[in-house]
Amino acid sequence: MAFYIPEEKISEIQNVADIIDIVSESVLLKKAGKNHIGLCPFHSEKTPSFTVNPEKQIFHCFGCGAGGNVISFVMKHDGVSFPEAVQTLAKRFGVELPMRNMNPAQKIEMSEKEQILDVNRHAMQYFQHMLFQEFSGKPGLQYLTERGISRNTLEKFHIGYVPDGWTNLVEYLSRKRIPRNLLIKTGLVVENKQKSGFYDRFRNRIMFPIFNPGNQVIGFGGRVLDNSLPKYLNSPETLVYSKSSSLYGLHIAKPECRKTGTAYIVEGYMDLLALWQHGIQNAVATLGTSLTSEHVRILKGHCEKVVLVYDSDEAGLKAAARSIEIFNKEYLNALILVLPNGHDPDSYLFKNGEAAFKAIAQEALGAMEFLMESAIRKNGMSLEGKVRTVTSMKDYLANTSDHVSRSLYIKKLAERLNIDDSAIMEKIRETIQKQKTENNRAGIIHSINQQSTRMSEAGLSNESDRMEKKIIAMMVQYPEILPEICKQDILSCFENKVLSKIGVLILEQHEKGDRSVSSLIVRVNNPEQEKFIASLAIENNKWNHAGCLKLIKQFVLSKNKRNHDLLMRIKTAEAQNDDKLLIALMEQLRDQKKIQKKRESAGGKTL
Ligand code: UTP
Ligand code: MN
Repeated sequence: MAFYIPEEKISEIQNVADIIDIVSESVLLKKAGKNHIGLCPFHSEKTPSFTVNPEKQIFHCFGCGAGGNVISFVMKHDGVSFPEAVQTLAKRFGVELPMRNMNPAQKIEMSEKEQILDVNRHAMQYFQHMLFQEFSGKPGLQYLTERGISRNTLEKFHIGYVPDGWTNLVEYLSRKRIPRNLLIKTGLVVENKQKSGFYDRFRNRIMFPIFNPGNQVIGFGGRVLDNSLPKYLNSPETLVYSKSSSLYGLHIAKPECRKTGTAYIVEGYMDLLALWQHGIQNAVATLGTSLTSEHVRILKGHCEKVVLVYDSDEAGLKAAARSIEIFNKEYLNALILVLPNGHDPDSYLFKNGEAAFKAIAQEALGAMEFLMESAIRKNGMSLEGKVRTVTSMKDYLANTSDHVSRSLYIKKLAERLNIDDSAIMEKIRETIQKQKTENNRAGIIHSINQQSTRMSEAGLSNESDRMEKKIIAMMVQYPEILPEICKQDILSCFENKVLSKIGVLILEQHEKGDRSVSSLIVRVNNPEQEKFIASLAIENNKWNHAGCLKLIKQFVLSKNKRNHDLLMRIKTAEAQNDDKLLIALMEQLRDQKKIQKKRESAGGKTL
């Protein structure tokens, strides 16, 4: 295998990087027998089908089919390549990796991200340093002090300031001998239109570094000190920063989210700081973008419920309604806290304090109630208004898959509007019916498609592969049978090339005395086949020797029958003078004979 990271290093990493530790950092796992289960971070689901097996050090999702070992998990979760995942784990667990064997392109890719993160950290340190400079930092510190931000909060969030001027940061980083093109790649520095020079993107702004959950600085937000526009400027998307999957403050909020099972979601940097400073430390902010499914999936790895705190202005309410659709789609339990008119969390907390905030948080509405109240507020209680409200709620109600909740919501809406609930039921019945048939159809087609894609991706589309697949499953789950497989040279009868390759790898590994499924996954080095192996390994089939021998016998018999069928077909082709077919069949026969010879000389039974 063309690994440029030595195999023993990969084994070492697999030995020290426990899959439960790594997965638990982003998925809430619960113990269930031999396995740990949780909500899959790779697809939306309501009930856990994501399974991790500590003994075998593998994961498998029964919902979407994702699976593999600890390295595959990091690759998929962080969206990185194999060497990057290995490097991340090596770093975390103090395994030293030789870099010299990498090809130049890989070296560049890998080090570019590292370098950007490194420059970001330098920049953060510079901004922090400047904030506390007696003269040049004064406007920044004064602004933050006026807004009530404590020294402790500033330090916890590494907040800084960049003075006015076009090249403060450019000069600082140039003195550190950081190349210009790297500066551009961080988004902190911009090349001018004439392409004759470089200038700072952020000037005279309070600087908020944005961290990923691994405590690396991935980008920045910068706020002006007055009313000029834009109020906030954010880093552009870079190799390390994507705003649709970043949540400000998560690196700090993580433990508290897990402890309380809840996360508050706010819109802005200052809102988050205000919450933290007032002791509410399980909060994250979305930063000028609407909430995405990615955000929600990340959050689901740390809490079971969220409280969305939005301003009560028109934009805030609209954003909340949009977010509810995402929560529903991703099956995350959400409450909506609408603050009194004109307040955002920051202004509310500094005016009314923590106790008042906690008190109104108690009254946060469930998503459906929130939508009802917003619709009623918008449409009023006239007859037409009520009709409009019911119409606007129709789809939400129909989409509520839980029947009990749905009838409760319908009852509530009827009470609130003072109308008969059968009238509402009537209105949504048609929508439900339509959705049901559509869903059923889509569901069936989807699952068929998914299954067949998965099968064909793993190279298992053919019906006759089923028995070969069963043999591989047996080899993975009951290694005691491997000597017999070897002795009878069963793999040489395999028609499916992918399966026989996997089989050969299993035997080779066994010969080396290595029984770990996780290492096998590294050896196949193909994402689809990794998933396939993980899905077999996670099954808990009980094999015994007699059963295994029976399966092998069955397999041999089926091959014999195929041979016999082949001879019959050759006879027919001869009788019909179909030369073309005859040649093709003879070739097949020749192949079979070759295999047979090989098997016989290996001491296997005659086919
Ligand atoms: P707001 O306009 O509500 O600002 O934007 P804010 O958070 O209350 O900020 P302060 O209290 O005036 O300082 C909410 C969030 O939207 C993003 C920022 O992340 C901000 O925190 N935003 C806002 C931008 O990205 N750019 C802007 O120009 C404005
Ligand atoms: Mn504000």
